Amino acid sequence: MNEELLILYGTETGNSELLAMDAQRLGKEAGFESSIFPMDEIDASKMQEHKHCLIICSTWGDGEQPDNAQDLYDEVSDLDAASLSGIKYAVLALGDTAFDLFCEAGIQWDDVMESKGAYRLHERIDCDTDYDDYCEEWIEEFFQKM
Ligand SMILES: Cc1cc2nc3c(=O)[nH]c(=O)nc-3n(C[C@H](O)[C@H](O)[C@H](O)COP(=O)(O)O)c2cc1C
Repeated sequence: MNEELLILYGTETGNSELLAMDAQRLGKEAGFESSIFPMDEIDASKMQEHKHCLIICSTWGDGEQPDNAQDLYDEVSDLDAASLSGIKYAVLALGDTAFDLFCEAGIQWDDVMESKGAYRLHERIDCDTDYDDYCEEWIEEFFQKM
């Protein structure tokens, strides 16, 4: 079992990636090592090797997963129930309240992780375009819970 925090990001234009890098820095300050992966460079079995997973994912199209997140999302959706029971996770969802399906992809991640037995360590945050104002506080709370 890998003790490092796994930080996954799903993105189209890089906002989630930058936040993932911020989270890695904040984690280091709090004493936690982490590894970062874009969602298209990891598979579900690799996820299962970790005890803690932070998911940062934007929403695209009309409430859809970003391009680099869809395959992993589908793979995790197809896992047996309880497959992720060794993981404690939290989801930071990025979106825009101008869209009907606000932060839908992040909501889907939160739901699928729970449905596969993972434990929600910190309540999901659904972030609007002003996310810079409050994301950092949420990430720090996540590390306090870790
Ligand atoms: C074409 C387009 C479609 C989008 N669709 C949604 C959506 O359905 N729901 C939502 O909450 N945000 C939506 N967004 C907003 C993005 O999720 C938001 O800009 C986010 O910060 C992008 O993060 P990323 O750079 O990590 O992909 C959309 C943005 C664009 C440009």
